[in-house]
Amino acid sequence: MAKDVGILAIDIYFPPTFVQQEALEAHDGASKGKYTIGLGQDCMAFCTEVEDVISMSLTVVTSLLEKYQIDPKQIGRLEVGSETVIDKSKSIKTFLMQIFEKCGNTDIEGVDSTNACYGGTAALFNCVNWVESSSWDGRYGLVVCTDSAVYAEGPARPTGGAAAIALLVGPDAPITFESKYRGSHMSHAYDFYKPNLASEYPVVDGKLSQTCYLMALDSCYKYLCSKYERIEGKQFSMSDADYFVFHSPYNKLVQKSFARLLYNDFLRNASSVDEVAKEKLGPFSTLSSDESYQSRDLEKVSQQVAKPLYDAKVQPTTLIPKQIGNTYTASLYSALASLIHSKHTKLAGKRVVLFSYGSGLTATMFSLKLNEGQNPFSLSNIATVMNVAAKLKSRTEFPPEKFVKVLKVNEHRYGAKDFVTSKDISLLASGTYYLTEVDSMYRRFYAQKVAEKSRCDNGSLTNGQ
Ligand code: ACO
Repeated sequence: MAKDVGILAIDIYFPPTFVQQEALEAHDGASKGKYTIGLGQDCMAFCTEVEDVISMSLTVVTSLLEKYQIDPKQIGRLEVGSETVIDKSKSIKTFLMQIFEKCGNTDIEGVDSTNACYGGTAALFNCVNWVESSSWDGRYGLVVCTDSAVYAEGPARPTGGAAAIALLVGPDAPITFESKYRGSHMSHAYDFYKPNLASEYPVVDGKLSQTCYLMALDSCYKYLCSKYERIEGKQFSMSDADYFVFHSPYNKLVQKSFARLLYNDFLRNASSVDEVAKEKLGPFSTLSSDESYQSRDLEKVSQQVAKPLYDAKVQPTTLIPKQIGNTYTASLYSALASLIHSKHTKLAGKRVVLFSYGSGLTATMFSLKLNEGQNPFSLSNIATVMNVAAKLKSRTEFPPEKFVKVLKVNEHRYGAKDFVTSKDISLLASGTYYLTEVDSMYRRFYAQKVAEKSRCDNGSLTNGQ
C-alpha cells in the first residue's frame, strides 16, 4: 500500500496577457474602487486567440514533466478538471495524450471531470484514490486543472481569469492528504451554469452564487469539524489549521468566507474565539442562518474581527488569484501555489484546510499536511519550478479596449471551424503551445513555440518554431 499519498510536484501556467482591474473599472464606467477594493482584484489574465484550455494544459504538462524530469512512461493516470467546453465528447485528456503517445505510453487511465470550478478537485480525488487503491500500478497520477473564465459584458466580467495547473500525485509526498478530515456539501442550484452550448459565457445569478458559496462553506465546515471531533475526540476550530485556502473567484469573497468560519466557531463556542470577538459577535448570535447570509452588519463586524487571523492564515494564499483572477478549476490550486510561493521555507509540519466550490453545486472542504519532502519533490523545489514572481513580472498589459477586442474575436471563434489563427506568438514564452488552426472538420491543431528537447527516444514532442 502506498503511504503518505498526495501532491509531489506542481507547475502553473497562465497567459502572458492581462488587463489591470483599475483600468477596466474606468473603461466599464464602474465607480472607482469597485473592482480593486470592492472585489479585491488587481489584474485579470486572459487568453488571446492563439491560446485556449488545451494549449495551456499542453504547456503546463510538458513543463512539469521537463522540470521535474519525469519520464512520460511513468504516468499511469491522467485526470483533467475543466468547465471550458471545447468538445462535448472528446476529452481534453485525449489531446494531452499526444505528449505520452510519442513516448510509447498509451496505458493511462482517466478522463475529464466537469462541474463548474469543482472539476479539478474531483480529478485530484480520483488520482489520490487510485494511488491508494488495489488497482494502482506503482506509477504517478497527474491532474490538470485548466480553464479560461470569461463573462459577457456586465458586472461579472471583472471576475474572469485564465490558467492551467498540473499536480503530480504519488506516495511519500510533501503535500499529503488527511483524507478522514473532509466534509462535502452537494445540492441543486441555478447559481452559475452554461446551458447555451453556442456560447462560452455562463448564465450567472451573482448574488445567489455568493450565498450558495457561503452556505456550502458552512455546511462543509460543520461536516469536517464533526468528523474530526469523532475521530480525535476533541473540538476542531480555526486554530487547528495553520492556513485556509479558498476557491477564489475574487478576493472579497475569500475575506468574507474566512470571516464566516470565525462566525461558525463563535456559534459553536470554540476556543479559537477570544473575549473581544465574542463581545463583538454577540449581537448576531440569535440570527437565523438565512438572516445571517443577508446581514451586512454581521459581514462587516466578522471581517473586522477576523482581520488579524486573515492576515496570518489566508493572506499568503491570495497573490496569484488576485493577479490572474478566477481560473475556475485552477483557482483553488493557484491559491495553494501562492502559499507555497510565499511561505515554502516555513511550511513543514503545517496543516492547510482547503475549500473547493463549484456552482450548481458541489463543494468539499479537506485537509492537507505539509512536510519539506525530498528533491525534486520538495516544497522549495516546487516554489523554484513554479517561478511565480518571474512569470507575473514578464506579462504584457493590454488596455481594456484591446482586451474587449480579443474577447470579441474569441466569441466569434467559439465553436467555429475552418479558420487559422494569426499565429502571433511574440508574447508567448518559449515552450508555450498555441493554437494554429481549426480545420473544416473542427479538428484543432497546436504547435509549440520552440522545440523542447524530448524526453522520449523517438524525437521531439511537436514541430517547434
Ligand atoms: N469602491 C469600493 N467598493 C465598492 C465600490 C467602490 N466604488 N463600488 C462597489 N463596491 C463594493 C460593493 O459594496 C461590494 O462589496 P460588498 O460585497 O462587500 O458589499 C463589491 O464592491 C461588489 O459590488 P456589487 O455591487 O455587489 O457587485 P455586482 O453585484 O455588480 O457584481 C458579482 C459582483 C455578483 C460578484 C459579479 O461580479 C458576478 O456575478 N461574478 C460572477 C459570479 C461569481 O464569481 N460568484 C462567486 C462564486 S461562483 C464562481 O466561482 C463562479
